[in-house]
Amino acid sequence: MSRMISSGSSLNRRSLLLGTAGLVTAASAFRFPTPAIAQGAPLKVGFMLPYSGTFAKLGKFIDDGFRLYVEQQGGALGGRRIEFVQVDDESKPETATDNMNRLVGREKVDVVVGTVHSGVAMAMVKVARDTNTMLVIPNAGVNEATGPMCAPNIFRTSFSNWQVCEPMGKVMFDAGHRKVATITWRYAAGQQMVGAFGEGFKKVGGTVIEDLALPFPEVEFQALITRIATLKPDAVFAFFAGGGAVKFVKDYAAAGLNKAIPLYGAGFLTDGTIPAQGESANGLRTTLHYADDLDNPANRKFLADFKAKSGADGDIYAVQGYDAGALLHEGLKAVKGDWSARNDVVRSMRAARIDSPRGPLSFNAAGNPIQNIYLREVRNGRNELVSIAGQAVNDPARGCRVS
Ligand code: BEZ
Repeated sequence: MSRMISSGSSLNRRSLLLGTAGLVTAASAFRFPTPAIAQGAPLKVGFMLPYSGTFAKLGKFIDDGFRLYVEQQGGALGGRRIEFVQVDDESKPETATDNMNRLVGREKVDVVVGTVHSGVAMAMVKVARDTNTMLVIPNAGVNEATGPMCAPNIFRTSFSNWQVCEPMGKVMFDAGHRKVATITWRYAAGQQMVGAFGEGFKKVGGTVIEDLALPFPEVEFQALITRIATLKPDAVFAFFAGGGAVKFVKDYAAAGLNKAIPLYGAGFLTDGTIPAQGESANGLRTTLHYADDLDNPANRKFLADFKAKSGADGDIYAVQGYDAGALLHEGLKAVKGDWSARNDVVRSMRAARIDSPRGPLSFNAAGNPIQNIYLREVRNGRNELVSIAGQAVNDPARGCRVS
């Protein structure tokens, strides 16, 4: 069963919060709210995702991936049937707290799965901490979620912004580039991703000559592309995703810069976007925790089943949704679907070892994935594996005090 609730809410935030302000200690974090549903009733999963706007396709693929995993298990995880409600967060941080409170307070969901946008995720993390609601983040990379804002009830099946971009510094230096410009949207994900790339690049001797940015989700790139042509860096590192990534890659090629100044990026630049980017994406090299042609049985099965279900080729967003289902399954299996044993659910989820389409997936104490970061190149209309840029990369979880 699935239901879409409209976003926006007049709920009084204070009436919903349970008053655990400040750092969630290990002891308090393991006290969960009393279950709102009787044992044996479906477990209620709230999807808080963008179903409209520049990240709409990303949200849909996460949703489809999660549902595919549940369907593969016969509609139940650990013997517990799953019920869904959805809210469209529109990638808007300003309505994120109300949307999250609506799911937690009015809808009384047991688990929230969301979201894509780092700024929206920050608001969700705060509510999840205050209300001790289980939150599984299936994309947003905001470092704080598994850094200073970490908590035992917060998990991520995607990446941290640091994790996917730091390894690119060495990759680009090894390719002979010494002076690089970066370009992104001016918001948490963009700034953290170019920052992490810069950290990796400077560590091996490279120089970032200019950081260029425009407000999210604007796509008027022309002035910045002209600036790149003037700067003449050895190469460019970019973070854009969804509709913005499609337009940026096309505009960069239309300006003829792809022939003169190699473009690299976080893998979101070309994941799920190649059909719309066409030839302008050919040859682009990016780092990500997935490549389309990873040759393992889990990936082959995932891609075939995802195509059969949705008619589309799976991408990283679908994988992250699929693995969010797999992670919840690990927790529910351990307690035979008994959500009242949530401390055990959490422990099993933290200890999970998942045979993911992306390769081996486990979790650090902060709840962030430990995973390979792959260098990929766009060839034959997909992101093909070039090499492993970082084996079992673990985010440093700076500032996390949950052990
Ligand atoms: C983010 O805001 O964290 C994000 C959005 C799209 C792709 C990757 C990261």
